[in-house]
Amino acid sequence: MLSPDGRVIMISGASRGIGLAIARTLLGKGYCVSAGARDVEKLSVALSGPWQDRLLCCRYDAADRSSHQAWVDRTNERFGRLDGLVNNAGTSNTFTIEEGEEEELDALWATNVKGPLFLTRLCLPYLKECGSGRVINVSSLSGKRVRNENIAYNMTKHAVMALTHGTRRIGWDHGIRATAICPSFVATDLTSGVTKVSREEMIDPDDFAEITALALALPNTAAMAEMLVNCRLEDTL
Ligand SMILES: NC(=O)c1ccc[n+]([C@@H]2O[C@H](COP(=O)([O-])OP(=O)(O)OC[C@H]3O[C@@H](n4cnc5c(N)ncnc54)[C@H](OP(=O)(O)O)[C@@H]3O)[C@@H](O)[C@H]2O)c1
Repeated sequence: MLSPDGRVIMISGASRGIGLAIARTLLGKGYCVSAGARDVEKLSVALSGPWQDRLLCCRYDAADRSSHQAWVDRTNERFGRLDGLVNNAGTSNTFTIEEGEEEELDALWATNVKGPLFLTRLCLPYLKECGSGRVINVSSLSGKRVRNENIAYNMTKHAVMALTHGTRRIGWDHGIRATAICPSFVATDLTSGVTKVSREEMIDPDDFAEITALALALPNTAAMAEMLVNCRLEDTL
């Protein structure tokens, strides 16, 4: 296993939910974390703790490309290296095949697909340099099958699977390992309106964070391209 000591991981959408749990878990294990979120003040408060010497909080707005470059630059200035990128920031909407405005589709595409794509592009030179770079894309079981009407969400998460496999291909010879983690329901704000599964039955964000930490720690010789995480039995997954 790779040691967390000195390794630097960027995490998008670290202000709450899954991203916040991942950031706290990695900081607790000794990683250096560069956290990105739209509201830096809120992010800093959420990540208050004894690890400030290993933490950088930066603005990341998926819809604002200049914030992508600035975040990567500041990470490099502060830590001088980059070992991993966790593309977590994401959202959902109710755009269906039959209903919904094009702007809603574009907004979801920008956050769930274009953000991760361009961050990956910007991080690749640094990840190649370190020899054991990791890209973790927080996808979804909605990236593996279509089980509801929210077609835009399902399409963006299927695209994240393609991005992961593409990253895996071009990164492999440089020691980069890309993993798509595909959860079912996780108990966060995103699922606050879900009634068919109770909060207690959903995946705990802290457990999801441990899975992410495992994907980051596995050596180049034991890579998982996809990790499917269920909280309930499905027929095929
Ligand atoms: N919860 C689930 O059941 C579930 C299941 C499968 C996959 N996922 C995936 O897990 C990831 C995290 O979801 P979550 O459950 O933790 O949701 P959440 O609690 O709603 O948190 C979403 C995070 O993404 C950030 N974000 C949203 N739009 C953004 C944008 N345009 N630019 C930058 N950051 C943005 C939010 O930042 P702000 O605080 O600024 O809004 C927040 O930090 C998403 O990719 C989601 O699709 C979740």
